[in-house]
Amino acid sequence: MPPRTSVPPHRRPPLVVTSDGDLLDDLLRLAAAGGVEVEVAADPAAARTRWRPAPLVLVGNDQAQHCLRARLPRRSRLVLVGRAGEVESGWQVADLLGAEHVAVLPAAEPWLVDRFAECGVEGGATARVVAVLGGRGGAGASILAGGLAVTAARARLRTLLLDADPLGGGLDLVLGWEQLEGLRWPALTGADGRVDAPALVRALPSRGDLVVLSWDRGDLVAVPAEAMAATLGAARRGRDFVVVDLPRQLDDAAVTALQTADRVFVVVPAELRATAAAARVVAAAAPHCDDLSVIVRGPAPGRLRATEVARALGLPLAGALRPEPGLRRGLERGEAPAASGRGPLAELCQRLVTDLTGQPAAGAA
Ligand SMILES: Nc1ncnc2c1ncn2[C@@H]1O[C@H](COP(=O)(O)OP(=O)(O)O)[C@@H](O)[C@H]1O
Ligand SMILES: [Mg+2]
Repeated sequence: MPPRTSVPPHRRPPLVVTSDGDLLDDLLRLAAAGGVEVEVAADPAAARTRWRPAPLVLVGNDQAQHCLRARLPRRSRLVLVGRAGEVESGWQVADLLGAEHVAVLPAAEPWLVDRFAECGVEGGATARVVAVLGGRGGAGASILAGGLAVTAARARLRTLLLDADPLGGGLDLVLGWEQLEGLRWPALTGADGRVDAPALVRALPSRGDLVVLSWDRGDLVAVPAEAMAATLGAARRGRDFVVVDLPRQLDDAAVTALQTADRVFVVVPAELRATAAAARVVAAAAPHCDDLSVIVRGPAPGRLRATEVARALGLPLAGALRPEPGLRRGLERGEAPAASGRGPLAELCQRLVTDLTGQPAAGAA
């Protein structure tokens, strides 16, 4: 599977799935009022390939049951839409489909115009979303996630680093940020529906262009999938670059993040057993990803090559990391990964950020 060439998500039109001519006329009028064109699919079969990449999907009441039966994947920014008197009975279907909202026309017209307008070039869903997961424990996934976020922020991209691993120990620690004030996950887990992007960003610990959503040191809580979807939706609208650090045991929130991500990297140490463990992680993650590739981390005690690891996993190789003992020492001192802009991790992160965003990511100053 070749890496997908980067089509900025904001260039993609919203998708409308309906074969109800009157409803379509209404939605085309509202889209025009919001300043965007839409793609139209008459049924789930026609919608399938555009379902995930679309920044917003509106399913007409007439196609809701069909979409459910077609088992289209759950996704964020999905709205069920219909006319008053018809769509109210659709709440249960909406829930099963994973729709964030039910829009009842004509009352919801202004709200829909706003949603369409958000998909326009300016102020639309612009952020690139990357997710990282480890092929085994201690693979280096969180360090790579931190390195990508630090590198993107160094390139002046407004970046969100999102910690989705309840057992990971807190990404704020990886950055040396545990003392910074701001909201952490448990306080956000009541969130559902729309999260206001500027408010979210203001509430989180931040330095320069980087904001972090991490865990506190209190009792463990899982992130509800709705909170993940809402947070990623807000981040897509309000940030340029989003990195999600995922747990290896995929929970609902992790699956939501995988489905949202433009690219997913699995980090695998260059060892036989790590490759075997990673095969299981890949089997669980792959069905939810459009674009999954491997990053192999040295040292390779048995001289296993990065290309061999990737081939064994049946995935493209996105990069290889040479051993970097200095990085470990820096982490112990509370230095954020890739912060110096030097070394194998920083160089790999610069290449990946540039590939994803087209924005040159600078090395050491
Ligand atoms: N690129 C790297 N170079 C050197 N050491 C690393 C690197 N990435 C991770 N490590 C080491 O491995 C440990 C585990 O990394 P981490 O990213 O927390 O793993 P994961 O999130 O996959 O469980 C780190 O604390 C660090 O000591
Ligand atoms: Mg981790």
